[in-house]
Amino acid sequence: DLIEWDAEAAEKGGFDTYMLKEVYEQPQALTNTLLGRLHDETGEVSLDIGLDPKSFKRISIIACGTAYYAGLVGEYLIEQLARIPVECDVASEYRYRNPLVGENTLAIAVSQSGETIDTLEAMREAKKGGAQTLGVINAKGSSMTRELDDTLYIHAGPEIGVASTKAYTSMVGAFLMLALWLGRARGTLSDKEGAELLSAARELPRLVEEALRPERVQRIKEVAEKYAHARDYLFLGRGVNSPTAYEGALKLKEISYIHAEAYAAGEMKHGPIALIDENLPVAVIATESRLLEKTISNVQEVRARAGKVILFLSDGDEENAQHGDDVIYLPRAHEMVSPVVNAVAMQLLAYFTATALGKDVDKPRNLAKSVTVE
Ligand code: G6P
Repeated sequence: DLIEWDAEAAEKGGFDTYMLKEVYEQPQALTNTLLGRLHDETGEVSLDIGLDPKSFKRISIIACGTAYYAGLVGEYLIEQLARIPVECDVASEYRYRNPLVGENTLAIAVSQSGETIDTLEAMREAKKGGAQTLGVINAKGSSMTRELDDTLYIHAGPEIGVASTKAYTSMVGAFLMLALWLGRARGTLSDKEGAELLSAARELPRLVEEALRPERVQRIKEVAEKYAHARDYLFLGRGVNSPTAYEGALKLKEISYIHAEAYAAGEMKHGPIALIDENLPVAVIATESRLLEKTISNVQEVRARAGKVILFLSDGDEENAQHGDDVIYLPRAHEMVSPVVNAVAMQLLAYFTATALGKDVDKPRNLAKSVTVE
């Protein structure tokens, strides 16, 4: 008998899709992102970039799509840990708004491909204005890496699935290291805090592996299937996890074509609350955080209006389980690293919704892996 060799199936390494394969590659991708950069003995972070961490007063983060949401997490982390003012902008806006740049500015491009034209042009604009430039980039030798002053590679490995997964979590991992490095160098992080965050970062691959345990994945699949026929979806999160909500909504739109919106949970009362009825699933990221109580009170507002709450809680939080119609438990993580762990749940929710609807997740309609024309 002839055994047929299917090259594409072989590349997918036993997974049905590239996307799922890449979701499962995240522990390894994160290991590679962190590799050789964290030093437990000294608490130091070494990034192998020439940039002087004290040579700028403000940071502009510039990106598109999923990379932009990683940038929003970066903004939060850098402001919290290094106390530098950061703004994060979508590249297509930044490049045309005559941005205020100067020698005191560090402009950071975030990009999986390193080729996205809007991001590249926005960085040229920043450079023209005198900014120092740094890339947080996956693709080796890409256009951005050739033009920017410096590159912090995320080392996630090739990403084929159009919907970005492992590049996102590795970008967030890279921002965590960058924030730690800046905080240490600029004296805003005590040795104790630095050491605590360093070990939290080190835990990331293991935490993501834990988040991908079969019974956890199965639970997300069940919930995804239950709500797969919803017309709309709402995602809520707060603080460092509000970008997790944005990314959750984006993933769902990209591959399942369900209309989804995301808000910082505290903003819900200023408009989106009008959308809530018994047909609206509301995915809420309510893992351990300083703001958990606030998030739970937003959840109560949703339920009072008959919305269906899919509640993402940290392992062991039994007290808050009563507030969800469906509860999904996630591994406990330090708040500052939780966006990485929580993003995995968002990816799986979108994935299993799309596959329940019979969509081709690796070839979503109208989307391209990298957008090199305007
Ligand atoms: C495209 C892709 C997105 C990606 C965005 C930015 O729209 O479909 O998944 O997030 O470009 O790409 P980049 O390569 O710059 O990260």
